[in-house]
Formats: sequence, C-alpha cells, structure tokens
Amino acid sequence: MKTLTEQKQKISPNGNPVKTNGKSTGALKKQQWNYSKSIEDQKHIKLKSEYDLFIGGKWVKTKKYFETINPSNEEVIAKVAYASESDVDKAVKTAERAYDKVWSKISAKDRGKYIFRIARILQEKAREFAVIESMDGGKAIKESKTVDIPLAIAHFFYYAGWADKLDLAFAGRKVSSIGVAGQIIPWNFPLLMAAWKIAPALACGNTVVIKSAETTPLTLYKLAEVIQEAELPEGVVNIISGDGMTGAAIVNHPKTKKIAFTGSTEVGKIIMRQIAGTDKKITLELGGKAANIIFEDAPLDAAIEGIINGIYFNQGHVCCAGSRLLVQESVKDIVIKKLKHRLQSLKVGDPLDKNTDVGAINSKMQLNKIKELVQIGIDEGATFYQSQCELPSRGYWFRPTFFSDVAQSHRIANEEIFGPVLSILTFRTPAEAVEKANNTFYGLSAGVWTDKGSKIFKTLSKIRAGVVWSNTYNKFNPASPFGGYKESGFGREGGRHGLAAYLK
Ligand code: NAI
Ligand code: MG
Repeated sequence: MKTLTEQKQKISPNGNPVKTNGKSTGALKKQQWNYSKSIEDQKHIKLKSEYDLFIGGKWVKTKKYFETINPSNEEVIAKVAYASESDVDKAVKTAERAYDKVWSKISAKDRGKYIFRIARILQEKAREFAVIESMDGGKAIKESKTVDIPLAIAHFFYYAGWADKLDLAFAGRKVSSIGVAGQIIPWNFPLLMAAWKIAPALACGNTVVIKSAETTPLTLYKLAEVIQEAELPEGVVNIISGDGMTGAAIVNHPKTKKIAFTGSTEVGKIIMRQIAGTDKKITLELGGKAANIIFEDAPLDAAIEGIINGIYFNQGHVCCAGSRLLVQESVKDIVIKKLKHRLQSLKVGDPLDKNTDVGAINSKMQLNKIKELVQIGIDEGATFYQSQCELPSRGYWFRPTFFSDVAQSHRIANEEIFGPVLSILTFRTPAEAVEKANNTFYGLSAGVWTDKGSKIFKTLSKIRAGVVWSNTYNKFNPASPFGGYKESGFGREGGRHGLAAYLK
C-alpha cells in the first residue's frame, strides 16, 4: 500500500481544476489503494416492469405512469402509477371502509399479530429489499443492508408489541384510534420512513394511505406484496405513488384525519397552511442543520469517524446529518488534517459494490442543488476541500467535500445542502459552542464529542434539538423518539411518544 501524498490544486465542485474566489486547501492525490469489486448478487431480485396502485389489497390501474431510474447508471428500472386526485379519493375511501368495517373492530392482540407477521416476512426478504433500495435510490448496499432494512423491520416488531398495551402507554388516560392516516414520505430512506409511519398507525388501530417519493417508489410496492402475503385485511394499508399534487390530495382529503409528513421545510409549511382550520392531527419531520461539536478533549480518532458517519452516511441525504461541524479552535488543525486523510479512503461508486462507502446522489435535481450550494460556498470565500476519487462516467455523483473557515453568515452554514458536504466552524469556549449550535432555524439533532461526562450533559441540555448523540452519531432505535424543534417540525416518531401521534 502506497502512502498518500498531498497535492496543491484548486478544484471545482465536480472535481475539475478551476479558479475560484475562495481559498483552496489543496487536495490529496487520488486514492492509491484499490479493492477488487464485490458486487451484491441481483439474481434473486423480483421486480415487475410496471407497478399499479395498491388499493384495497389489489393492484389498481390508472391513466398515467412514470419511470423510476437507478441514479447510479440512469437506467430505467420500472414504471409506476401516477396517482391522480380521484385515485387518492378511491384510496382514502377504501381505507375508511376498512377502518369502519374491519380494523377498528378486531382485537388489539390481532392487530399486533398482523404487524408481527409483516415484520417476519420482511425479515425473510431483507436481502431483496436491500438490493432494491440501493438500486432505486443510489445508497450504498452496506447501508441498506445494515441500517435501512433491519431498522425498518425493527420498527414493525417494536410496534407489534405495543398494539395491545396502549392503555399502559398512557397511564390514567383512555385512548382510541383516529381513522385514516395520510402519510407522505421522502426519498432518502424509503422503506424505513414507511415503517416509521405505517407500524405505529396500525398498532394504534388506524388505516393508512401512504405515498412514496418520486424517485424511490419500489420498496413500498414490494412492501405491498409483503402486506398481501401477510393477509392483512384488504384496504388497511393502501400504497400509492405520485408527486406533490398526489401528496396535496392526501393532505386536503376531508377523510384523512391524521397527516404524517417527512420532507422539506418548504412543503411542511404549505401543508400547515392547508390543514389550518381542520381537525386533522399532524406531525412534521422536516429539515435540519445539525451541529456536531468536537471539544479539544474528545477522542479525536473516534470523533473523525463520527464526523464521517455524520455527514457522508447516505451521501448526506439525511435530515439529521451532522452538517455543521463545530471544532474547538485548539484542535482545528489536527481535526482538519485527519479529516482530509480519512476522506481519501472513502470509496465512492457503485451502490451495489459491498466496498462502497458513498453511493450515487439520489437524483439529478438533488445533484444540481448540491452543486449550486457548493458554488455559493466557494463564492462566499470559505475554504473548499474535496476528495479526489474517481467517479463513474454515468449516473449522479458528488465527491465527499468539506468547507473550513465557514462564517455564521455563510449560506452553507445555514441552509440544508442534503449532500456529502460539511461546513466547519470553530469555537473557543463551551458557551460559544452552545450559542453557535443553537444559532439555526432548525432543531432536529446534535452531537457532542468530549472525554468528560459532565460536559456532555451540560452542553446537550442547553442545545435545542430533538435528538442528541454523545460520542457517537446517527444511531437509531425504534424505542427512541425522533423529531425536531423550530423549523425542523414537531411531533415525535418512534418509541412510546410515537404512539401519541396516532391516538386520540
Ligand atoms: P419535498 O418536500 O418536495 O418532497 C417530500 C415528499 O413530499 C415527496 O413525497 C413529495 O412528493 C411530497 N410533496 C411535495 N409537495 C407536496 C405538497 N404540496 N403536499 C404534499 N406532499 C408534497 O422534497 P424534495 O423536493 O424531494 O427535496 C427538496 C429538498 O428538501 C431537498 O433538497 C432536501 O434539502 C429537503 N428534504 C429533506 C428531507 C428530510 O428528511 N428532512 C427529505 C427530502 C428532502
Ligand atoms: Mg429511482
């Protein structure tokens, strides 16, 4: 294995040498070690070329269909139905009928059994789901195999257990189901977001109409097959695909009594306006710009791994990503040096290669947004640094990137980039770290790295974020609630708290 050598060079957002207004810290020479490819077997994958809507336990045709592609090679994987307003109406009415006639009448114990059955069947098909998730969305197979799919399954198991214990969850209060839940999910964790929403809804006795995101509909339709296999009563879960118009039809339908949305803050605000004056219950899980705080006494090598996992996990398409690194000034240089070195060993490429750390950017639209914000960072004068790895010739890719010398006023310190791009700021005292961490419109998550337990508690208790991690990052568990403050939304998903959103 050869050692890495540093090379002074100015590079553009897509990795080519250019002139910039900002200073460049130079890039390391491209990665010197190579692994043989280890491509995940795809032969066991069963996909149809066209997916209809899943309404009332059956596949229902519609007028329009759209293509979903594999963002790592731009090839079409399948066509999926584009649900119109009348399709949404059909789905919601079907869900209402299933609620009135079946789901609200069966015993809580039986509800639990069905959810448990879904979890078990998913578990058997975990590998197939992982491969499809990576194909449709671009995420590295090692992540879909070890995070997305197992966590989704864990949520079904977890809420299966709650179904007949709702009275214990809220002591001294009588709780009951709501009716039809309308659920709208994003493209960054398709099956996992579906599990976060469907599992508690069913456990609490509600029925569901859920819409997948434009670029990643496939694992939800595979879930529809699982639901059929589990013999869940027809119409209890209805799965549709479409775009913002379809989502708006779910929100505006008078029979959806609860709206659960995960996505952009912009759309979250539109939904809030639309349901104003109605009796709909709502939870919103929106954007973030989390502070990941590194104190000088932190175990630095572990912290570097936490930074990498915080921002490059899932190509940075993570609402709780540690996208704002706050480093204590005394260790800034060493942290940046270590980070540069670590960036070179991140393998970017084929999502189905088991060696891949960073997969493809989910869509061309998202790639353009990342490029635009990175250019803004360069123009604003932050110091730009990017891995020099090779990229495949087709598909949507962005090299792992970070900016140092970022000021609070820079747009890259405030706006969600939703890509593999880290903004590094510094602080001198713990009080300044807290002040800067809270200086954001968002409040979803935060991390702190230090050797001192007391400092962890003192710092994290002052940070206004729904989820906080100490000496780790991006760890999830179905038993712990997830959600935000401020423009990151409200309501909690996961844990006992997650039940409250689906009960009266
Ligand atoms: P988006 O918020 O437009 O899409 C999320 C979901 O909402 C999709 O299923 C979409 O079809 C649906 N939707 C869109 N407009 C709607 C409306 N008016 N009513 C109801 N549903 C609607 O997010 P998009 O366009 O995919 O990404 C834009 C940016 O949002 C990203 O660059 C990223 O910064 C942020 N984002 C944040 C996410 C998070 O988890 N916090 C997830 C996805 C995107
Ligand atoms: Mg796709």
